[in-house]
Amino acid sequence: MEKKDFLHDFLQTYKDNRDLNDDLHEKLLEKNNLADWTGLLKERSQKMRFIYGETEEMLATIRDYLDEILTDNDAEMLFDVIMDLYYCGYDDFEVMSTIANKLISYYEMRNDLDHRVFLYHLMGFETTEFYSRTMGDAGLGVAIDYYQRVISLRAHYVEVSDPRIRRCFFTAYSNLIAPLTEICPFLQDSVYDYYYAVMDLFNNPAVQTLDGDKPFLPLVMAKINEDILYSEAYVDNLKERQRGQFIKIAEQAKRELDLGRREDPSGAVMRAYHKARILAGRMKVREVVEEQISLITDDLRFPNYSDPENEDRELDVFFNYHDTGISILKYLKDSEFTPAERREYLERFFNKVTHVHQTAPYHFFTSRLNSASAEWFKAVEPFMESLEEKRNYLSKIIISRQPITYLHSLMVVQIAQAITNIYLWTNPEEFIGILGCKDIDEVKKKSEEIKKYVCDCGMLHDIGKCLITDVINQQWRRLCGEEQDLIRLHPEKGLMLVNEDPQFAPYFDVIVGHHKYYDGKGGYPVAFDNTKSPIKIIIDIITIADSIDAATDVYCRNYARGKSFQELLQELTERAGTRYHPGIVKLLNDNTGLQSHLEYITGEGRIETYFAAFREIISL
Ligand SMILES: [Fe+2]
Ligand SMILES: [Fe+2]
Repeated sequence: MEKKDFLHDFLQTYKDNRDLNDDLHEKLLEKNNLADWTGLLKERSQKMRFIYGETEEMLATIRDYLDEILTDNDAEMLFDVIMDLYYCGYDDFEVMSTIANKLISYYEMRNDLDHRVFLYHLMGFETTEFYSRTMGDAGLGVAIDYYQRVISLRAHYVEVSDPRIRRCFFTAYSNLIAPLTEICPFLQDSVYDYYYAVMDLFNNPAVQTLDGDKPFLPLVMAKINEDILYSEAYVDNLKERQRGQFIKIAEQAKRELDLGRREDPSGAVMRAYHKARILAGRMKVREVVEEQISLITDDLRFPNYSDPENEDRELDVFFNYHDTGISILKYLKDSEFTPAERREYLERFFNKVTHVHQTAPYHFFTSRLNSASAEWFKAVEPFMESLEEKRNYLSKIIISRQPITYLHSLMVVQIAQAITNIYLWTNPEEFIGILGCKDIDEVKKKSEEIKKYVCDCGMLHDIGKCLITDVINQQWRRLCGEEQDLIRLHPEKGLMLVNEDPQFAPYFDVIVGHHKYYDGKGGYPVAFDNTKSPIKIIIDIITIADSIDAATDVYCRNYARGKSFQELLQELTERAGTRYHPGIVKLLNDNTGLQSHLEYITGEGRIETYFAAFREIISL
């Protein structure tokens, strides 16, 4: 096939497969009946397996093209492919960066200004999206570097022939100001430098002559004027001169709001203004808390999630609730409030913000809302009293944001419970130390509590996956090395979500250690020594349960064919003593009753478990 035709076919098939993937995933959360739902799971699994293969094959061909020396024609065609993917919103970091990097060196050699600016900008954007969605903050330095390459070319602004590409100079500044500066503390000192530099560019007579009448300019400047207000979040850490600049900008924004010259759908103006008033000594923290609570309870309308025409606007409304809620929680940490007052204030707005979170449909800006729910949990968790309350909240996050992880967790709970039910009686000595048990008698006496503890561990072990859902849901093609590295971060991400709360301490080692090998010599994270954990036996049970579910799952994992229970048992046996706890593997081999129970749980029983999950998903 001609390259041109192949690339055209590739684009179409790639997009169709992505759409199908999103579609099937979204349907899982629609409220239809039980039988349809399991049918859908099966259908999804089959289709995904197919498109996985198809996409892989096409990507391999593209990679072959890229290995060859590019002709001008090839480069133009590939450039069109990524332009198309970018403008249609098919962000796929691996695919786009593979193509873009090849093109960057090609156009750098030819000193082609237009293509370079566009590609640097595109890579800045894709890198930011990828790493901020997957919480791989370390990669953001690369994004900053790409945007800086764009703005380093600003003296050549008028030489860029395509106005869409000239716009990239402004959006590069805009993205550096927020979200990058918000996420990367080392950039914070420069935020007002970027702001005043982009103002200079805007006011430059040559820029005005060329683009003063273009509709993009007021749009992008309005966004920059809003982005800068988000410096409110870290203004306390800045130098005095910068705080002065912030106060000036925030007060100016509020004046424009009062005069009807601007709107404030995301609440950024009000939050910045409140902060500026506190910094200037004109308002007390308590007054701000009162005002922000009344914004949430009296002024804000509920987001209309079912209006596809105005999704961006509704996202603003969502974030007005979310960011105002986070802002109040931050102010409530102030020492002037007593714990009782904090609780009282919290009761006035917490439920409404949480409701806004939990009613957001899955497809609604999935990745941004995933990080928002983790952020919301972290912010409200110190205000929750019981561990039960916190755990319920967390499992609601898993259910609503990451249904596939939820199904997996339910399976792990059951498998771990079945194993513990027997192992606890055959090898009680291994449980000494768990829940404070001093001897075998106490282990037996506390058997029910221990089983309950194992179940809770199973429920929470993969909580870190909620923070990297974008990578996990991306199963229409093979994960690249970097994506696999990110997935391997989920134990540490999970720990980071709860590690400030001592009530979660009993679960720390399972969350961080369930992918380490029994002998401590393999698995991840390398830095965690599971062999020294006081709850090692619990980690070992969860690790085996985790592998049993993963290997026998034919519904949710699209990259591997489910194994039979006997095949799996052989694999566990081969790695007993190194990867898996030999005592538990022996039990699995010896106890035929347990074998058939597990065969049931992972076979027919799987559907029953999914039914239960379905009921919970629709009841949210
Ligand atoms: Fe895991
Ligand atoms: Fe897991």
